[in-house]
Amino acid sequence: MSINKYEKAWLGFSIIMVFAFLGITGYFSFVAGFQTPQDAEVIDPTKIDEDERFANPRVEEVIPGELYNVYMVARMWSYSPTEIRVPKGAYVKFYITSPDVQHGFHVVGTNVQTNVIPGYITVITAKFEKTGEYLIVCNEYCGRGHQFMKGTLIVTEG
Ligand code: CUA
Repeated sequence: MSINKYEKAWLGFSIIMVFAFLGITGYFSFVAGFQTPQDAEVIDPTKIDEDERFANPRVEEVIPGELYNVYMVARMWSYSPTEIRVPKGAYVKFYITSPDVQHGFHVVGTNVQTNVIPGYITVITAKFEKTGEYLIVCNEYCGRGHQFMKGTLIVTEG
């Protein structure tokens, strides 16, 4: 019967596709070496309160006007600190982690955008040349409060 022939052809095709996908995944993992960031600092997501940086999320002035560290926790469904204040032209190094699920961190209107994955500390350095108030949003769906997860970055004159 001819229907049987088509079914066999589809079966054969889907088996080939399974191996093709395995092959593609295998190629990128083992040959091309695509992996999660290897040098990313790991952290136990259940114990971030025991880490001095995240027990007290804050903006830390390292070199006045030049370098600021931001220790930030992204959780369902808020950022702490909620408001970040840095002077324009300074290097701002963000250290962000999550105790629960994967979140996003996007400073709207800039190219500062990253994921925050529980178990890892996301480090991203930025410089803001324009003063003003920037909205921070989560662009990774993280549950029913996702759309309310917001923060503010204020870039001051000096
Ligand atoms: Cu956090 Cu979406």
